[in-house]
Amino acid sequence: MPKSREIHLVQRPSGAPSPADFALVDRDVADAADGEVLVENLYMSVDPAMRPRLTAGQALNEAMMGGALGRVVQSRHGDFKVGDLVTNRLGFREFFTSDGKGLTKLEPDPDLPLTVHMHVLGMTGFTAYGGLLHIGQLKDGEQVFVSTAAGAVGSVAAQIAKLKGCYVVGSTGADDKARWLKDEVGLDAVINYKKEPIRQALEAATPKGVDVYFDNVGGDHLEAALRRMNTLGRIPVCGFISGYNSGHSVVSNLSNIIYSRVTLRGFVGTDFMHAYPDFQRDMRGWLKAGRIKYQETVRDGIAAAPDALIGLMAGQNTGKMLVKLAG
Ligand SMILES: NC(=O)c1ccc[n+]([C@@H]2O[C@H](COP(=O)([O-])OP(=O)(O)OC[C@H]3O[C@@H](n4cnc5c(N)ncnc54)[C@H](OP(=O)(O)O)[C@@H]3O)[C@@H](O)[C@H]2O)c1
Repeated sequence: MPKSREIHLVQRPSGAPSPADFALVDRDVADAADGEVLVENLYMSVDPAMRPRLTAGQALNEAMMGGALGRVVQSRHGDFKVGDLVTNRLGFREFFTSDGKGLTKLEPDPDLPLTVHMHVLGMTGFTAYGGLLHIGQLKDGEQVFVSTAAGAVGSVAAQIAKLKGCYVVGSTGADDKARWLKDEVGLDAVINYKKEPIRQALEAATPKGVDVYFDNVGGDHLEAALRRMNTLGRIPVCGFISGYNSGHSVVSNLSNIIYSRVTLRGFVGTDFMHAYPDFQRDMRGWLKAGRIKYQETVRDGIAAAPDALIGLMAGQNTGKMLVKLAG
C-alpha cells in the first residue's frame, strides 16, 4: 500500500491566498483492485482558475482539484498497462487509484520534452490557439494586444499572432519578462503595467488601434483596450486574473463596445474541440521549427504546491507554472 501526500484546502482565503489556507496531508492509498489502476503523478499544473475555486467550488479538507500528468504504476484494468502516461484532473496528490474514468492516455512526442504536453502543446496552448483564431477571428496583419503576455496562455497567443504577421503588443508586470518578450519572442512593443499606467502605455504602443485584444486580465487592462479598439474589433475574453482575489473586476467604459461595434466573447477551450487536430499539427510543427518559444517555472515536490499557486497569483512564474513530483 503506497504512502501518498496531498494538498488540502483547509480554509477559504480572503483576498490573496496564504500558506495557512492549505495543509499537506499524509494518506495511505490502496493498491489497484480489479478494474483499477494505481497512478503516480509526475507533474501537477498550477493554474489561475484554481483561485476562484478556493472561494467556491473546491471542497474543504479534500485534495485540491487540478490538472496533472501521471504514470500507471499498477494496473488491473484492461485499457491501461504499467508505464502508460495519463493526464487527469485529480490534482494536488502524489498517488491515487482510479477505475480509469477521467484518465486520458498520453502518447508523448519523442522529439519534444514531456512537459510541453502540459502547456504549449496541451490545453493552455489550445486555449491560446482557439481563443485567438476561432473566437477572436484573427486575420493576418492585424493589430493585436495580449495581456499577461509572458504567461502560459499569453505567450502562446502573442506568438501565434506574430506568426500571422500581426503587430503585437504584450503586457507584463516584470522587467525580465518584458525583456524576454521583446528580445527573444520579438513582440513589437511591451508594456510593464507596474511601471507605467496601462491606459497611457497602450495608447502610445498602438498608433493604429487594436483589432483583437486577447484578454487574460480584465479590469484596468480591458478598460484600456476598450479605449483603443478599432471598429469591428474582437475581444476573446480568456480570463480576468486581476479580479480573482477580490472576486470582481471593474470596467467603466463598456459603452465603447457599442461605439466601436466590438464583439466581446468569453470562452473555454472545449468550445472549439473541432480545431484540436489542426492545433496539434500546427503547434508541433511550430515547436519543432523553433517558431514558438516557451518558458516554465518548475517547483519541486508536493510541499511546494501551495507556494506555487500563491506565487502564480503574484506573478512569480514566467511561462507555465508546474510542480514536479517524480521523474
Ligand atoms: N478560458 C479558458 O479556457 C482558460 C484556460 C486557461 C487559462 N485561462 C486564463 O488565462 C489567464 C492566464 O492563465 P495562465 O495559466 O497562462 O497563467 P499565467 O499567465 O502563466 O500566470 C498568471 C500571470 O498573471 C499575471 N497577473 C497576476 N495578477 C495580475 C494582475 N492583477 N494584473 C495583471 N496581470 C496579473 C502575472 O504575470 P505578470 O508578472 O506579467 O503580471 C502572472 O504570472 C488567466 O486569466 C486564466 O484564468 C483561461
